[in-house]
Amino acid sequence: MSPLLEIRDLYVHFKTRDGVVRAVEGARLSIERGRTLGVVGESGSGKSVTALTVMGLTRFRNSTITGEIDFDGIDLVTLPDKQMRSVRGRRIAMIFQDPLSSLHPLFKIGWQIVEAIQAHEDISKEAARARTIEALREVGIPSPEKRIDSYPHELSGGMRQRVMIAMALVLKPDVLIADEPTTALDVTVQAQILDLIRRLKDEYQTAIVMITHDLGVIAELADEVAVMYAGRVMERTSRETLFTVPELPYTWGLMRSIPRLDAPRPRRLDSISGLPPSLIHLPSGCPFHPRCPYVMDICVATEPELKESQPGHLVACHLAPKDRQQIGRDLQTRYRS
Ligand SMILES: Nc1ncnc2c1ncn2[C@@H]1O[C@H](COP(=O)(O)OP(=O)(O)OP(=O)(O)O)[C@@H](O)[C@H]1O
Ligand SMILES: [Mg+2]
Repeated sequence: MSPLLEIRDLYVHFKTRDGVVRAVEGARLSIERGRTLGVVGESGSGKSVTALTVMGLTRFRNSTITGEIDFDGIDLVTLPDKQMRSVRGRRIAMIFQDPLSSLHPLFKIGWQIVEAIQAHEDISKEAARARTIEALREVGIPSPEKRIDSYPHELSGGMRQRVMIAMALVLKPDVLIADEPTTALDVTVQAQILDLIRRLKDEYQTAIVMITHDLGVIAELADEVAVMYAGRVMERTSRETLFTVPELPYTWGLMRSIPRLDAPRPRRLDSISGLPPSLIHLPSGCPFHPRCPYVMDICVATEPELKESQPGHLVACHLAPKDRQQIGRDLQTRYRS
């Protein structure tokens, strides 16, 4: 199957007073209908900027965007604003970390969904309202015929995320980008929201891009995984492979920082030492080299390309593939036992 959405060599740079921020640097991603792509990486690795660029929401005066974003035969990088608006929301929808910022605070939630339906479809207000109530019910909002007239601030965080998902349900987008949709929520609500997203995928064959810090969410939901660092996609493979033979030292670091389920929750996670690099003054060679326990001379001199290590497994690292596979497998065996 050919991908529904394919990002090729995407660069997104922002000119600032301190210099050029290289937020996305040659990212390559793809996703098929009915599949979930998990995107992981530390804070500042370019996950949100990549997503916002797909939505056409990084077209600022100080930004430069190059590369291709092929969505069902349309190049979203060069698509004029007017056409972009008709893709956004209807064909590609996004759920943000904080749904307060994507719901207008001064309008009733029902009105916002009805508006969204009417913007894309020739349908009466009454019919759109009925469909909205149905969708609110479907995402588990109690007494939706009353809740439809609430303002966003009258709802809890979990309820607001449900409203965003209800909006996605009524518009039935081809792609749903969920940017940390559960970070602000407690564990039970988190599980319910993930369930809803999974249903959306199963029922409508929606392609899901799930952005998260949380490898637990990836383990539960993703079919494919992309690991981002300093604006680059540095490892890409299936979920199974990522959790059995991860091949990137950075990914190993992320995995060591997940708390083990069987151990009491540690006070601090054993996170990767050092800080993510400045995106204005990047290190030479591999951007991860200053933090990498396996650094070699070549890593300081040359940036590794994202290359196929095994069929379907792309890795950007200078370590020899068989060494990476050995270390990755050992690490996972230790982690599991
Ligand atoms: N409009 C902008 N102007 C300048 N720099 C920006 C702009 N938007 C984002 N950045 C920078 O781009 C980099 C990537 O940010 P991004 O929000 O994509 O990270 P992220 O991976 O989503 O992180 P997090 O996990 O914290 O959400 C950051 O250094 C950020 O400060
Ligand atoms: Mg983000």
